[in-house]
Amino acid sequence: MEYQAVFQETGAEALLITDPFNMRYLSGFRGGEGMLFLTEDRQVLITDSRYTEAAGKETAFQVMEENREHRRTEILRELLRETKAEAAGYEDQSMRCSEFAALQRALPEVKQWIPLAGRVDRLRRIKTPEEIGYMRRAEEIGDEAFEALLPLLKPGMTELEAAAELEYQMKKRGAEGFSFDTIMASGIHSSMPHAIPSGKKLEAGDFITMDFGCTYQGYCSDMTRTVVMGKADEKQKEMYGIVLRAQRAALELIRAGLPGSRVDREAREIIEKAGYGDCFGHGLGHSVGLYIHEEPRLSPSDDTILEPGMIETVEPGIYVPGFGGVRIEDMVAVTEDGCENLTRSPKELLEL
Ligand code: GLY
Ligand code: MN
Ligand code: MN
Repeated sequence: MEYQAVFQETGAEALLITDPFNMRYLSGFRGGEGMLFLTEDRQVLITDSRYTEAAGKETAFQVMEENREHRRTEILRELLRETKAEAAGYEDQSMRCSEFAALQRALPEVKQWIPLAGRVDRLRRIKTPEEIGYMRRAEEIGDEAFEALLPLLKPGMTELEAAAELEYQMKKRGAEGFSFDTIMASGIHSSMPHAIPSGKKLEAGDFITMDFGCTYQGYCSDMTRTVVMGKADEKQKEMYGIVLRAQRAALELIRAGLPGSRVDREAREIIEKAGYGDCFGHGLGHSVGLYIHEEPRLSPSDDTILEPGMIETVEPGIYVPGFGGVRIEDMVAVTEDGCENLTRSPKELLEL
């Protein structure tokens, strides 16, 4: 298993894995609640009776049930004594301070606590062909649902109704869940990149920004399209054209060997030169996998060199408070000499 390197890198003799996505990645366990206890030659999943039956089917690891008679800390103490592990790695980036303090108090067998500092998350950065296949399907479900939604969008429908319809269309096509809360932002709401769908009705002349994703085999999709209800005005066409140009330039540039910051700059400069630099506050993109926002990012502050098999979103935007906003987002798999764009939905400005 690739996590074996973590023992050598950190000096840990046991790894206590609590991040639900890392648990799933390493063991296959989908329940999310529990803990992995790993040594170089022992793999244990500790979970409770809500999950033990499913866990037995999902993971090849030994499953131990925690309950009132046999608490998690007692199981951990037994495992520590059996394996003679005294240096324990823990997930400092996701564990609560109070949980860490409780573990420290409960496990006197541990003489040294070693923060894993995101080492296990980093194992997830480069996706296998199988993982990319799941993400290709997840994004395809999004594409199909978007196509099915467009003819249903009508003036008078609320943002909440439109978001529910989009989610229904994804679920009907095999989505297990959603990557994040669907964004359905119309009119002046669309200037808020992460607007929450409301009872506002879709109106003629509105920009409608739809940012959504679903999970398939645990893996997330992520895409955004912005359309206009009715006819677009000149300013809407101008904003849309700039964002599309910025996105196309970044998609053209992205490839293995470049730092993510370089790809961000490519898109950002186009938006700046067009006079909208102050209207694009967020980074150009992020990686995606079992979780929606993973590292590395396409951002001015991330110089990580892109590698084949990394997934990135490319999502420039222009947001003008009081007027509206545009974002166009595709999700790509980085390759040696470019990328595979997993998003197929059309990108010319759609006037509904
Ligand atoms: N709204 C989530 C994302 O696109 O990153
Ligand atoms: Mn998105
Ligand atoms: Mn995104």
